Amino acid sequence: MTNTFLPLAPANAQGGLSFFLILLYLLCLFFPAGVLAAEAPQTPRKALVLFTFGTTYAQTKDPLEVLRKEIAARHPGLTVRLAYSSAHVAASLKAKGQQAETLPQTLADLSADGYTHIAVQSLHVIPGLEFDIARDITGRYANLPKGIRRVSLGRPLIGSHEDAKAVASILLDALPAERNTEDAVVLVGHGAASPSGSLAYPALQCFLTRLDPRILVGTIEGPFTLESILSALKAAGSKKVWLLPLLTAVGDHADNDIFGNEDDSWKKTFSNAGIQAIPISRGLLAVPALAALWADHADQALADLSD
Ligand code: CO
Repeated sequence: MTNTFLPLAPANAQGGLSFFLILLYLLCLFFPAGVLAAEAPQTPRKALVLFTFGTTYAQTKDPLEVLRKEIAARHPGLTVRLAYSSAHVAASLKAKGQQAETLPQTLADLSADGYTHIAVQSLHVIPGLEFDIARDITGRYANLPKGIRRVSLGRPLIGSHEDAKAVASILLDALPAERNTEDAVVLVGHGAASPSGSLAYPALQCFLTRLDPRILVGTIEGPFTLESILSALKAAGSKKVWLLPLLTAVGDHADNDIFGNEDDSWKKTFSNAGIQAIPISRGLLAVPALAALWADHADQALADLSD
């Protein structure tokens, strides 16, 4: 930038103009470049990070496929990266030779690649511990002078009571057509240890009950334990139950805790109690209307970058 101005001065320029240009030249020489550069705002370069728990299971189909298509249709050309909330999952994918980074590493990479405004979209179902961690990490980037200047965070699938209401009606619509209205339905989520997320499951159950009292929300780790769901089914005299994961994608928890052949799995516990259990192994991201709701949250996170 130091010699930008001199070639612009025509040889026969008037004295005043030449003097002005020489003054500018001297200013450029003696002012640190950063002082002048800071005057011109850098154009924001936006990227979206999908923040997921991930799974080490070999998937026949990319569980993010529906969401990726939805985002590409809404934001053509937008850079989209994936970050893992589980350091364990990231490490074991890397050991298999796959590209897998944690959120801090992904943000560092994007910064090195010149991105300045990053929206992070949580692909978690509820605002649990992993969402708290994401809020911690993203909160450290606020109006920084260089590199990444802003990071926003999109809420998980059930991050507000409006979300809980929308998810309840989508889940009802997405039940298999063969399900008889007499049949019970049990949706099994992970369960929350985080105080901020602990009300998401009861909120979902509330809206589901209004639509169809035979649909129950269970959780692997509480608050709605397998025992409590089993007694509810027995009390209702249920003979048949459709069993679905309330998980972003199917993996270890779905295959073992919910559908496993051990006696303590949800499926086995129900059938041992004389209730026919029909497994539907489908992650929530595979339901297009739910992927669209996640994409709505990502839209909001991207919009938050322009505040
Ligand atoms: Co777990």
